[in-house]
Amino acid sequence: MLALLFFSFLFLACNLGKPENSQTAMNDFLDSLMKEMTLEEKIGQLNLLPGYEGIVTGDARASEIGTRIQEGKVGAILNVRSPEKIREMQRVAVVETRLGIPLLFGLDVIHGYKTGFPIPLALAASFDMDLIRQTARIAAIEATADGLCWTFSPMLDITRDPRWGRIAESPGEDPYLASLFAEAFVQGYQGEDLRLNHTMLSCAKHFALYGASEAGLDYNTVDMSRIRMYNEFFPPFKAAIEAGAGSVMTAFNEVDGVPASGNRWLMTEVLRNQWGFGGFVVSDYTSIQEMMDHGMGDLQTVSALALNAGVDLDMVGESFLTTLAKSLKEEIVSEEHINLACRRILEAKYKLGLFEDPYRYCDTGRAQNQIFTPEHLQVARETAAETFVLLKNEDQLLPLQKKGTIALVGPLANSRQNMAGTWSVAVNHDQSVTVIEGFRQALGDRAEVLYARGSNLVDDPDLDRRTATRGITTFDSTRTAEQMRAEAIAVARRSDVIVAVMGEPAEMSGESASRTDISLPEGQQALLRDLAETGKPIVLVLFAGRPLTINWEQENIPAILNVWFGGTQAGNAIADVVFGDVNPSGKLPSTFPQNLGQVPIYYNHKNTGRPLGETPWFRKFRTNYLDVTNEPLYPFGFGLSYSKFTYGDMKLDKTELNGEEELQVSITLTNEGLYDGAEVVQLYVRDIVGSVTRPVKELKGFQKIFLKAGETRVISFTLTPEDLKFYNAQLEYDWEPGEFMIMVGGNSRDVKTAMINWQH
Ligand code: BGC
Repeated sequence: MLALLFFSFLFLACNLGKPENSQTAMNDFLDSLMKEMTLEEKIGQLNLLPGYEGIVTGDARASEIGTRIQEGKVGAILNVRSPEKIREMQRVAVVETRLGIPLLFGLDVIHGYKTGFPIPLALAASFDMDLIRQTARIAAIEATADGLCWTFSPMLDITRDPRWGRIAESPGEDPYLASLFAEAFVQGYQGEDLRLNHTMLSCAKHFALYGASEAGLDYNTVDMSRIRMYNEFFPPFKAAIEAGAGSVMTAFNEVDGVPASGNRWLMTEVLRNQWGFGGFVVSDYTSIQEMMDHGMGDLQTVSALALNAGVDLDMVGESFLTTLAKSLKEEIVSEEHINLACRRILEAKYKLGLFEDPYRYCDTGRAQNQIFTPEHLQVARETAAETFVLLKNEDQLLPLQKKGTIALVGPLANSRQNMAGTWSVAVNHDQSVTVIEGFRQALGDRAEVLYARGSNLVDDPDLDRRTATRGITTFDSTRTAEQMRAEAIAVARRSDVIVAVMGEPAEMSGESASRTDISLPEGQQALLRDLAETGKPIVLVLFAGRPLTINWEQENIPAILNVWFGGTQAGNAIADVVFGDVNPSGKLPSTFPQNLGQVPIYYNHKNTGRPLGETPWFRKFRTNYLDVTNEPLYPFGFGLSYSKFTYGDMKLDKTELNGEEELQVSITLTNEGLYDGAEVVQLYVRDIVGSVTRPVKELKGFQKIFLKAGETRVISFTLTPEDLKFYNAQLEYDWEPGEFMIMVGGNSRDVKTAMINWQH
């Protein structure tokens, strides 16, 4: 009762103070609330616990988590969905605790909610920021309709190592593209106003350098120079903060010898002091207590380390809850720090409007009407098609005509649970569209589809179990690999064309899914070889959560369409592209190596003192390998179209510039093909001489241009000195005068070039 009275009082006070637009009102409200709070209640706010899906309306109080909430020992909950369950937990927090402080409810809404969008790496391949923003917007609409107000997304870890499974969740290798991606995601989730019931708090993760884990091994050590951090790995995080991201998650790895979750330099110096981040920091899962395994001390020590470093909310581990009071007594942490952390959590709740209406996200009507709607599915379908990258298309084999007999072969052709891709926690897997369904829908009775699975996803049943989505294995142990292949070959022989739907199972990428061999799983390779021997034309539809080494496929298969993991509507989108209703326009956000030995391989590398230069390959005492060229299999930014886009000469409005002048770069783009289509025109710059070594090229702009068949358009970019800035050896962000190479093209390798001189 007391709680209710107090809550109503605060509620009124806050209403009188016009909470919606007043920082002062928020401060007054939180000042008076925090004055009432005991130390235990403050520490309780720093505790994020998993809810249990089993809780149904009315049961929360009786459950363990219910009791914890009642005792004021929980500030936020993860992994509960549905407005009823969340309302019930929120009710306990608001009505049955002394001060009635509402809870935050978070979940990994990574690439869509129930409507699954393509994996983030695929979204980056769309090079379409409006589209990315829209997918995040829809994800927020659906997630908030299901009771949630906080997502653990976007993941912004730059990575150049395809062994690392979490590359699937990342924006790829480029800081510029990743920064725009960060901004689009944050804007999509948070919208204009966090207090609306369809916007949610975003979380930029994992701060920082998680994508640089040695050997692509998940959670492994990272060791990196600061100059590289600032120039290459920090930019997307800074962009997310500038876009207003309300929270940041730590990383599992160490940075400069101190685990990220205990790294004060990262969490306080960089994030808050240098970038002005005002939100709260959450640990990545049990990363606080994991610092014991890192060798940083006992639980009390590492918890104090985390708090002092700037971590505010402890996910799952309860390290803060169980040690901070003692640490305060022993003066290992200060009350000021606990207050600060608590304040940041309360501020987020306030900004979400939870003090005003704690049930803001618990509208069951919305849950019924705004999730998995036909409109959302349509966006999912269009988005997926925009992310596909056409890697090869010999003799214009694609698009296929809707006629004749098509052999649809491969373990991913009819695999519902592998469509959505990794980290699809809430996705309606059972309603994902398979490739065979997409084909049948697109073809009706105009063409015949013959299907054979042809192989298991992997030959090793143990590996199959380890990579099975939601633990559901589809391993066929009733037939030998030869029998399965023979069946597929028979089907192929009766067909006009083979569409081989192959690749990684969804859970072969994602967290704790590193690989030391990134080729097509063995059994599938054998199948593809046999199919090739039939002499029938083959299209390889390739599912992948990472760049794969597909040299043999590139040499021997006439058409390759990389489809990543396309989400709920993958099957329809694949049919749209294979049969030419949509012209592919995706470009690679991550370099595809020729072999794993080249890794890390990325377009924006340094020149070295012994570059290979124009020599094709090989020169003794130069930067090259004995056994393979330096070239990737497919470079960053690469992707074909059913149309042919040609670039005219590049024009610069000047070649000598001074100070704050601007440079206009223009180029004529022509669609010479027979299909309307979109091309991503990319602008790269090379800073020829610097006070520190500079990359051989850096993406500085791109435009996705739609041209009708036969159409020509002049595409213009404006470059300013701002675009030339980088962090120097003193970590000052500035540009240095001199010569610059300007490059424009359809990928990072095939570019037109010109030189300019830009003086201060
Ligand atoms: C992952 C995070 C995720 C968290 C909560 C961790 O294992 O690294 O990305 O947000 O779990 O599910």
